[in-house]
Amino acid sequence: MIEDSAWIRCINCGETYSLDYRGYVCSKCGDLLEVILNLDILNINSWSIFKDRSRGVWRYRELIPVDYNRRVSLNEGGTPLIECKRLNEWVGLEKLYIKFEGTNPSGSFKDRGMTVAVTKAVELKVKGVICASTGNTAASLAAYAARASLPCITVIPEDAAVGKIFQAIAYGAILVKIKGSFDQALKIVFQVSEELGFYVLNSVNAWRIEGQKTLGYELAEEIGGECIISVPVGNCGNIAAIWKGFKELAELGLLRNLPRMLGVQAEGAAPFAKLVKEHGEQLNPIDNPRTIASAIRIGRPVNWKKALKAIRESGGDVEIVSDQEILEAQTAIARLEGLGVEPASAASIAGVKKKVEIGELDKNDTVVCVCTGHILKDPNLQLFKPIALIEVEPDREKIKHELHEIVNHLSMKNIHITYVKKQSW
Ligand code: F0G
Repeated sequence: MIEDSAWIRCINCGETYSLDYRGYVCSKCGDLLEVILNLDILNINSWSIFKDRSRGVWRYRELIPVDYNRRVSLNEGGTPLIECKRLNEWVGLEKLYIKFEGTNPSGSFKDRGMTVAVTKAVELKVKGVICASTGNTAASLAAYAARASLPCITVIPEDAAVGKIFQAIAYGAILVKIKGSFDQALKIVFQVSEELGFYVLNSVNAWRIEGQKTLGYELAEEIGGECIISVPVGNCGNIAAIWKGFKELAELGLLRNLPRMLGVQAEGAAPFAKLVKEHGEQLNPIDNPRTIASAIRIGRPVNWKKALKAIRESGGDVEIVSDQEILEAQTAIARLEGLGVEPASAASIAGVKKKVEIGELDKNDTVVCVCTGHILKDPNLQLFKPIALIEVEPDREKIKHELHEIVNHLSMKNIHITYVKKQSW
């Protein structure tokens, strides 16, 4: 039954494979694979089958062709969509929403993909699982591998964010730190996985995308398709996944309008954004990607072809933002809305702000920014400037005096930019 309702297909040559195919790319031409649902057989023509179920990835179980009864789940998805009533002014828009993926079990959107892909790994009876990661994939895989009782190896650059490394260790993954980039880590993963008999769970694995597409399903239910969706882009998987979700719903007749996808990359790691801006057909990889947003510090995005399709089919666009713009956006999100997101996530807001400034977004456009990861993933005291920091003896009078002075200077309206330097830090 499941076999009839879906198959795997190469995005380039169209070669098809059954759902138990264990490869990651097409054995004929080497290109990326995707899971194709046979929407005619699925015969879903109304939202009603989903409506009474709890929110989350598995609400849409008929559209995820793995064994639901054997799912490896931590109740991922069902994240909040938050209307931003102060941040929107800072950005220059009437209607701005944040889809806050930081509330997922391991603190990032990766959990949506892992619940499905690790379920697939269990179905395939693999010996263990392995990934390369800038950090979040490692944290997420480690969590789901623990849940599934599967040995797990994560290969990360040594400068990955500390919260993510901590998670991978805590969940019991074998940690391989390399003196190199994410792109080198991914290369190594493919070199060693075969020999070890471990299953690769990076987003080149089409089952990850099958879980992540539910972000599109959720947004379709919550806000519909008449909007712009801004997504931080690294390895190019998530933006393609969200678009896949929306498109499937439109093909089922459950959604009339489709959103425009906006992909945002950081200045020093923007090979995909450059490709789109230059109307090219071939990605020029970067050997030494640099950005403060370590999650998207990637020079050779594996899924660029899928992401390019998402941008072009949706009539979307890309934007490139500086580290400074990312950090300002991260601070603004935190201080204007009380939402803590990691730097890569803040790129989605910074990109939208830039588009408004250069007149490529209208203030009446409805925009959803996907904030992909939690602020605690990457706690960096060197970068975040405190509103005020007082370092004094525990002396009541002294503290009272200092606070008095600071409180008189505070302007709640401009709280994201106002800070009072009291001592050196
Ligand atoms: N935002 C965060 C917080 C991420 O961790 C990532 C990717 C992205 C955005 C970009 O998503 O790669 O699908 O375009 N992190 C990966 C990792 C690469 O290893 O955790 P993408």
